Amino acid sequence: MILVTGATGYTGRFLLPRLAGWGQPLRCLVRPTSDQGLLAPWPVEICTGDLEHPSSLNPALAGVRLVFHLAHIRYTPALLATAPAGLERVVLLSSQRRYSRVPSPSVAEVIAGEESALGSPLPWTLLRPTMIYGPGEDRNLSRLAAYLRRRRWIPVCGDGRALQQPLHVEDLVEALLAAARSPAALRRSYDLAGPEPLSYNALIDQVGAALGISARRIHLPLSLVLAGLWVARKAGLGPDLEPEQFLRLQEDKHCSIEAARAELGFAPRPLAAGLAQIYGGGAAP
Ligand SMILES: NC(=O)c1ccc[n+]([C@@H]2O[C@H](COP(=O)([O-])OP(=O)(O)OC[C@H]3O[C@@H](n4cnc5c(N)ncnc54)[C@H](OP(=O)(O)O)[C@@H]3O)[C@@H](O)[C@H]2O)c1
Repeated sequence: MILVTGATGYTGRFLLPRLAGWGQPLRCLVRPTSDQGLLAPWPVEICTGDLEHPSSLNPALAGVRLVFHLAHIRYTPALLATAPAGLERVVLLSSQRRYSRVPSPSVAEVIAGEESALGSPLPWTLLRPTMIYGPGEDRNLSRLAAYLRRRRWIPVCGDGRALQQPLHVEDLVEALLAAARSPAALRRSYDLAGPEPLSYNALIDQVGAALGISARRIHLPLSLVLAGLWVARKAGLGPDLEPEQFLRLQEDKHCSIEAARAELGFAPRPLAAGLAQIYGGGAAP
């Protein structure tokens, strides 16, 4: 039995069709509030539970040999505490956020989640993707593309030179499957990203080019953005934005993927190829 957590999320929707092709019994842990209709196309057993409530997890984990944990890494302690005897591999999806130097509870919880696995004798493999993009609503490049389509200009906080290395969701899925199968990946962690880093400015330009749009970037000093945010929040007008989000935008988010290349056969597609697949290298709508 294979268990997937977070199956109703973005990555889950790309992993499930591949797992369905394996022909092994497949189970998904979903919350009572999850949109179970998203799983309807696949032959999966649905098990209701909530990673916030470890006592609800036993039915989902019973008899499981392989787990793909796509829900947040902070839930790892609850998951591992319920691991059944006979578990052969648990593939954990963490995040490059663990490397952020911006102090924040969201960074601390990724690190704590990882630590609980790294110190465990269970058969884990841990993957740390950077920004995930792909077809449909990836909530990263899809938002950037929608914005550029609407306005053809975009405000950029800071100089836009911080490096990004977006990862196509189908390449992430290949890494998940390889991590589950590879003996060499036992108790190993891997950074995952696209093949080449590029600046946020270049990312905007590439997405614009894929849409057939020459987008104008309007750079705003970080100090001005933070001051504006502070004033807006004081006035109770603040949108749901945190200063840490803007501080993280100034951080380089590139990493070496050589370990994943060597041990998982990871071969992510270039960004231009991924964008052409999604937007058809298309002309402006
Ligand atoms: N997206 C990115 O750019 C990115 C980058 C780096 C790392 N990651 C990590 O990669 C993983 C997958 O990302 P994603 O964007 O595909 O995820 P996502 O779309 O945000 O989906 C999250 C999934 O986790 C489930 N979930 C949330 N809380 C849960 C709980 N308490 N109990 C059980 N299930 C719960 C959600 O179920 P519902 O359907 O009920 O909401 C959903 O299926 C996540 O761990 C994320 O932190 C993502």
